[in-house]
Amino acid sequence: MRGASGLRWLAAALLVAVGAANDHNFHRDFDAVWGKGNARFRDDGRLAELALDEQTGARLQSKDRYLFGRFDLEIKLVRGESAGTITSFYICSGGARHDEVDFEFLGNVSGEPYLLHTNIFSDGKGEREQQFVLWFDPTAGFHTYSILWNPHNIILYIDGTPIRVFRNNEAYGVPFPTRQPVHVFASIWNAEEWATQGGRVKTDWSRAPFVATYRRYNVSNACVWDAGGASRCSGGGGGRGGGGGWMSQMMDWWSWMTLNWVRMNYMAYDYCADRKRFPHRFPTECIIPIGTT
Ligand SMILES: *[C@@H]1O[C@H](CO)[C@@H](O)[C@H](O)[C@H]1NC(C)=O
Ligand SMILES: *[C@@H]1O[C@H](CO)[C@@H](O)[C@H](O)[C@H]1NC(C)=O
Repeated sequence: MRGASGLRWLAAALLVAVGAANDHNFHRDFDAVWGKGNARFRDDGRLAELALDEQTGARLQSKDRYLFGRFDLEIKLVRGESAGTITSFYICSGGARHDEVDFEFLGNVSGEPYLLHTNIFSDGKGEREQQFVLWFDPTAGFHTYSILWNPHNIILYIDGTPIRVFRNNEAYGVPFPTRQPVHVFASIWNAEEWATQGGRVKTDWSRAPFVATYRRYNVSNACVWDAGGASRCSGGGGGRGGGGGWMSQMMDWWSWMTLNWVRMNYMAYDYCADRKRFPHRFPTECIIPIGTT
């Protein structure tokens, strides 16, 4: 009896160890769907390097599709000269009326800061840009960028600090993504027409290749969607009633405090405050007071 339970224990311990070793495997979880030669997996798939040169950039796409989830990814951005480049991490459903949530890091000339450009598309409509400068050097080390997406809201985090919230305001006629499964993407590409200082500064190809590094892709809190339309949830996403897991996570008092700290100190652009663009009336989601949804 003792032997059997000991063996069972050993088997369980081994499974945990194997599971841990197999975590974060880009090779297993992603396909290079563009610029294959410029996407390199290192360290048994634990690290992905995406390069941009004059020929091509590169894009990874998750093999799985997800309907809701918390997607974490650590990124180290292109060091030194990065003008004209965009390094990204996003979720997107594809299709004519696609849903999409974007982290796009706009490069800069050497020594000048990156700009983080974010956008949210629902039912094919985007134009919800918010931009931030960062409170750290994103090229000096890895930082965790997260997209939390549940039926209540979409929250973007940097190292656990919320920087942006898009609430489900379907009750007010604002479409919110709840039906279309998404792939997770990571990419680097050339966008010199607009990325850096409004397109004034172009890519310096003599400094290519431009390489961004990704690691610790974590979707242990997500619902994997299968072609039959069913979804398997993990990490507190399943079950009825939510019960405090990621599936029911919303902004609490402390989250609003830190979000406001970010907005006050690091926000560079907010479509919800752009009166030139919206001279008569801001989009609906901009004018619904917090606390009503
Ligand atoms: C690049 O640096 C300039 C000067 O510091 C800054 O105005 C700009 O926002 C930075 N980022 C981009 C993407 O242009
Ligand atoms: C993934 O993230 C969750 C929290 O969101 C954490 O509990 C878990 O340890 C992470 N997994 C790995 C392998 O880092």
